[in-house]
Amino acid sequence: MINEPGGAAVEPVDRLDWLTRAYRVGQVIRTAALFGVCEVLAGEPMAAQQVAERVGAAADPMRRLLRTLVALDVLSESDGLFRNAALGELLRRDHPEAMREVAISRMRESWWRAWGALPDAVRTGESAYVLANGRSLWDDLRDDPDAAASFNAMIGSGTEEYAASLARCIDLSGARHVVDVGGGQGTMLAALLTSAPGARGTLFDRPAGLIGAESYLASTGVANRVEVVAGDFFDSVPARRRGRLHPRPAHACALWCA
Ligand SMILES: C[S@@+](CC[C@H](N)C(=O)[O-])C[C@H]1O[C@@H](n2cnc3c(N)ncnc32)[C@H](O)[C@@H]1O
Repeated sequence: MINEPGGAAVEPVDRLDWLTRAYRVGQVIRTAALFGVCEVLAGEPMAAQQVAERVGAAADPMRRLLRTLVALDVLSESDGLFRNAALGELLRRDHPEAMREVAISRMRESWWRAWGALPDAVRTGESAYVLANGRSLWDDLRDDPDAAASFNAMIGSGTEEYAASLARCIDLSGARHVVDVGGGQGTMLAALLTSAPGARGTLFDRPAGLIGAESYLASTGVANRVEVVAGDFFDSVPARRRGRLHPRPAHACALWCA
């Protein structure tokens, strides 16, 4: 017997059985997010038929989808009526944690195909994404601003979870300029500048990586201290006169403070 994270003991064969099915979970949650199921269930509890009508889906598959979401603790069900559980609330569009974007972006068709190419990637050493889609993720994001916005929001919401702690770990006393190379919409840079009120910042990324940056920086109150620079770090990066390089904090490409 082995223990599940929650403490329940399961047979190894059952655990492995679950793990081999787990690929389906992300698509179930993505489908709920795409249809806005958790928006509809934010108020009164509802029957599957009603949910299906509200989101424009077929009733029977929607009932099965909702029941699966109950099994995953995203929804709860009582007397045939469904409502959001705590996880379902996180999937609402206006939730500050932005988990809806994460759920949709992570299971985007091109990523789904890329994971299917994992055996070929392991065998050949090539990028699974390129093998499956014929071009790189960055080329896709460059040509699809909606996908880029969704990707940037997804990455940003992951960064938000630890950006403030990272700002506490890096000694920014005396820092006058912070450069985030591959900074995306600026989540980490905003956190660092918030804890270094005297510093200015440069946010550097590909043009597609910067989609959403201006509004994000404005929402965090640091926009007037940040220069946003579009470029490719394989060509050049903003000049570093002096300062400390913090290579690859989780999620960043490089960060330096001068
Ligand atoms: C994992 S994300 C990190 C984003 C940001 N540091 C954060 O924590 O929210 C990596 C970033 O590197 C950017 N990137 C990838 N290749 C790049 C390149 N060649 N030049 C500039 N930026 C690049 C991507 O657009 C993306 O925003």
